[in-house]
Amino acid sequence: MTKNWRADRKREQYYRKAKRENYRSRAAYKLKEIDFKYDLIHPGDRVVDLGASPGGWSQVAAELVGGDGEVYALDLARFSPIERVTFVRGDIRKDSVVARLLEHIPQGADVVLSDMAPNISGNYTYDHARSVDLCEHALVFASQVLKEGGNFVTKVFYGDMTKGLVSMARRSFDEVHVTHPKATRSTSSEVYVVGIGFNGARFSPRSASSERS
Ligand SMILES: C[S@@+](CC[C@H](N)C(=O)[O-])C[C@H]1O[C@@H](n2cnc3c(N)ncnc32)[C@H](O)[C@@H]1O
Repeated sequence: MTKNWRADRKREQYYRKAKRENYRSRAAYKLKEIDFKYDLIHPGDRVVDLGASPGGWSQVAAELVGGDGEVYALDLARFSPIERVTFVRGDIRKDSVVARLLEHIPQGADVVLSDMAPNISGNYTYDHARSVDLCEHALVFASQVLKEGGNFVTKVFYGDMTKGLVSMARRSFDEVHVTHPKATRSTSSEVYVVGIGFNGARFSPRSASSERS
């Protein structure tokens, strides 16, 4: 009871802060924290934001890359435009959508972010598996688009398949960390897997599910 009350209060505080500071979601503070900790996004970077709606992470990314940078946002759902953010609507699991997104970024990206989450069914095992599936799509996409040295973040609902996801990320990044930002509710099962320094190891689109074990 007390824990839930604290979690609700914390959620409310971040919600108010986001309203005050004109961010579209509380989630903006999670990306700020992760970026502060790992120094992921730099002025002039080209950033891809997967699962971007309603746009909190895209706002933060656009601020961090500044006027010389670019942000490409993908989501199933539209959201109102953000300056210097190019929106592509679609499902990351579809080859045609990935191809459309890649067309925008022929020079490659410096950072790929994913805050994608499945609709919650209430069955934790199922929701965890679907979350990991989205992360694998994000990781495969990142391996197709990142320049060497690039960085990656993905949200995952924590569970027994998280270890497999981390092992998969280790093949492509010099360093892999799992972090739980303070802006995330303490009762939340979500964590963020952070890959630093893309080493050029690319996954073919179909290898994602076979990597899971
Ligand atoms: C938690 S919200 C993202 C919040 C966002 N980072 C922000 O700061 O405003 C998760 C998003 O993932 C998107 N999503 C879920 N599955 C997806 C998929 N297969 N392809 C693209 N987007 C997806 C949802 O539509 C939803 O908008």
